[in-house]
Amino acid sequence: MAEQFDVVIIGAGAAGMMAAIEAGKRGRRVVVLDHAKAPGEKIRISGGGRCNFTNIHAGPKNFLSANPHFCKSALARYTPWDFIGMVDRHGIAWHEKTLGQLFCDDSAKDIIRMLLTEMKDVRAVLRLGAQIQSVEKTLSGFRVVAADGSIDCSSLVIASGGKSIPKMGATGFAYKIAEQFGLPLIETRPALVPLTLDPAQLESLSALAGVAVDAEARSGKTAFEEALLITHRGLSGPAILQISSYWREGGDIRLGLLPRVDIAALLKAARRENGRQALQTALAEHLPKRLAQFFTETAGLNNRPLADLSDKAIDAFCLGIKDWVITPAGSEGYRTAEVTLGGVDTRALDSRSMQARDVPGLYFIGECVDVTGWLGGYNFQWAWASGFSTGQAA
Ligand code: FDA
Repeated sequence: MAEQFDVVIIGAGAAGMMAAIEAGKRGRRVVVLDHAKAPGEKIRISGGGRCNFTNIHAGPKNFLSANPHFCKSALARYTPWDFIGMVDRHGIAWHEKTLGQLFCDDSAKDIIRMLLTEMKDVRAVLRLGAQIQSVEKTLSGFRVVAADGSIDCSSLVIASGGKSIPKMGATGFAYKIAEQFGLPLIETRPALVPLTLDPAQLESLSALAGVAVDAEARSGKTAFEEALLITHRGLSGPAILQISSYWREGGDIRLGLLPRVDIAALLKAARRENGRQALQTALAEHLPKRLAQFFTETAGLNNRPLADLSDKAIDAFCLGIKDWVITPAGSEGYRTAEVTLGGVDTRALDSRSMQARDVPGLYFIGECVDVTGWLGGYNFQWAWASGFSTGQAA
């Protein structure tokens, strides 16, 4: 005999737990199944252990999707302030770090505890270590067959996330279920991920490993101004993670270092004051020393006194710093990607409820859907908002 629940949610991550809370509030009997040993593992490790749980500026423009309009409804129905309200009710202290990014003062575990408390309050059941073998359509809904028994339900919510960080239990489960029920998929790829360089490029930048600097990272028409970090594997830091979602293999990344500083004007002023100063010394007053050395050596100008350089020569030299073109070899892939681009095609889903248009009772939420946020709390806001929308309907 199969057990009976109104709603089965597969995945006890951010989206699944939010959907459980909201469906539970409506009196639905909810069970959340997860194959992991603990719920919300990605919440636990997020934001360096402090969980960047939302972004107060979150809006449709901060998301990538084949249909940029799809996320509008859910984001409007559950805003960052709705989530902040829940965080405040649970007495969790938070702060804005930068650019509207909100973090817990103390620990990401506070967010997990909050969600579990809310689930308990509405009697949503959580089952961990669940090995799901199959999902079948029945006359009145769905049957979920797990290693230790079957559950029948009228609503089935797939909240099993994307492919990023397989070591933490990420699987392609959602995509398989989508395929089983005939829903189209948008090709997936790692996003918010460090970019790698080929061995020759790495060799030429080896002296720069560990250097961080403010930069504008550009791919095509999209640009982000944040920190750039050069590592022993390639390029990282928020500016690179952001642009990685837009970059495609074979394409360039254009880096403008110190985007708010007119380096050429500063070098010309330094030349007026002390023409005997070496270009490298003058540049090192603004850029990290190793970068100053790298750019002046690459240009063959490291010991050159400023007085030797015409305005034109300074402008040409600075162009290399303001428009540094790098062609990455690839990305670090799902092993380190924070999120997965692509996923369940939104054309197959109703944007108010996340229900599959052609399969009543089947819902997809969170990262497995083709809606991917920028770095900075946007992805959790999508998880909360899509989970909330489904929780009102499932
Ligand atoms: P999520 O991946 O959280 O949950 C899916 C659940 O399904 C997991 O518990 C998994 O075990 C379970 N599952 C998978 N396959 C299953 C199967 N076959 N059977 C049963 N269960 C299964 N975002 C942000 O906004 N702010 C931040 O600070 C960060 N920081 C961050 C750091 C790192 C290191 C990573 C990897 C990611 C982030 N993110 C982030 C992104 C954020 O973590 C992500 O967008 C959300 O966790 C997605 O929530 P979901 O609930 O959709 O999936």
